[in-house]
Amino acid sequence: MKILITGVAGFIGSKLAYELTQRGNEVVGIDNINDYYDTRLKEARLRHFGNGWRFIRMDIADHKAIDKLFEHERFDKVMNLAAQAGVRYSITNPYAYMQSNLLGFLNILESCRHHGVKYLVYASSSSVYGMNTKTPFSEDDIVISPVSLYAASKKSNELMAHAYSKLYKLPTTGLRYFTVYGPWGRPDMSPMLFAKAISKGEPIKVFNNGNMFRDFTYIDDIIEGTIRVINRMPAIEECANGVRANVYNIGCGHTTHLMEFIGEIEKNLGKKAEKIYLPMQPGDVYQTFADTTKLEHERGYRPKILLPEGIQRFVKWYRSEDNPIL
Ligand SMILES: NC(=O)c1ccc[n+]([C@@H]2O[C@H](COP(=O)([O-])OP(=O)(O)OC[C@H]3O[C@@H](n4cnc5c(N)ncnc54)[C@H](O)[C@@H]3O)[C@@H](O)[C@H]2O)c1
Repeated sequence: MKILITGVAGFIGSKLAYELTQRGNEVVGIDNINDYYDTRLKEARLRHFGNGWRFIRMDIADHKAIDKLFEHERFDKVMNLAAQAGVRYSITNPYAYMQSNLLGFLNILESCRHHGVKYLVYASSSSVYGMNTKTPFSEDDIVISPVSLYAASKKSNELMAHAYSKLYKLPTTGLRYFTVYGPWGRPDMSPMLFAKAISKGEPIKVFNNGNMFRDFTYIDDIIEGTIRVINRMPAIEECANGVRANVYNIGCGHTTHLMEFIGEIEKNLGKKAEKIYLPMQPGDVYQTFADTTKLEHERGYRPKILLPEGIQRFVKWYRSEDNPIL
């Protein structure tokens, strides 16, 4: 199977490229290596996970380049991970989200349509649940209340994919990832921000006075779930309206209090954090909590790594020589 992964220098994409190659697929990966966070980490991931597949530096917002790539390579399947990520950054840099998440995603849809791609999988996000208060969050919940432009862009992706599935019979699946953490993670996310500050004896910012809950999902569980989805296209009976456009939650299926999460990092670093308690940030939500039964029933997904083990593995990597931004 020939598979394109976009955003391949990213946290999820780099490991996914490695695992899909190990399982016998031909993988081509693209990434624009933007400087949203330290590019040394992106380059190190490409070196670490880069065996056996091809890397091309390319921007998904570049319509002509993307169209040419698809015409030349004739991919069977596409996994779109390239996006401007981050909730807080979308408050100050809204245009980056329109460029990559909307225009870039449209380019991917158009190229899939015109160049015979059989199946498109793409990253959505738990943030689409926005102001939803019913927990755990289920794919059947009506989600029309995003609280950040990032969340709005991800919900838009689900709507755009549905339209293309209906119009052009392109099977699509959106994956609503819930706070992914682990080795090679993102420096803009809390595990890395906390580990860095605590290690250096600097204070950490604790939003909403620590009164928040997140469904933290270990990277290996995310990769396993994503591969299960890539391997099998949605069947008509798994989708609404007779349109082969599906959406799954991928989470751990547990929600953890922020202070408990910080406690795990402190324990593994052997150091207490100096905490600055702050109010809720614009764009943030109080809680995320995934109902993962749909993915369990339809694709046999079973998250395996609980937070204590996941944090232990993350901190071990964080302190190792593999971490280029220690
Ligand atoms: N990590 C999480 O907790 C999480 C949660 C929900 C959703 N997601 C989504 O999953 C996907 C992957 O997330 P990640 O954590 O690996 O993020 P990441 O930022 O590490 O990876 C994204 C990669 O895409 C690249 N990229 C961005 N814009 C691009 C463009 N226009 N053209 C080509 N490449 C571009 C970046 O350089 C980066 O390497 C994203 O779509 C993100 O929104 C992630």
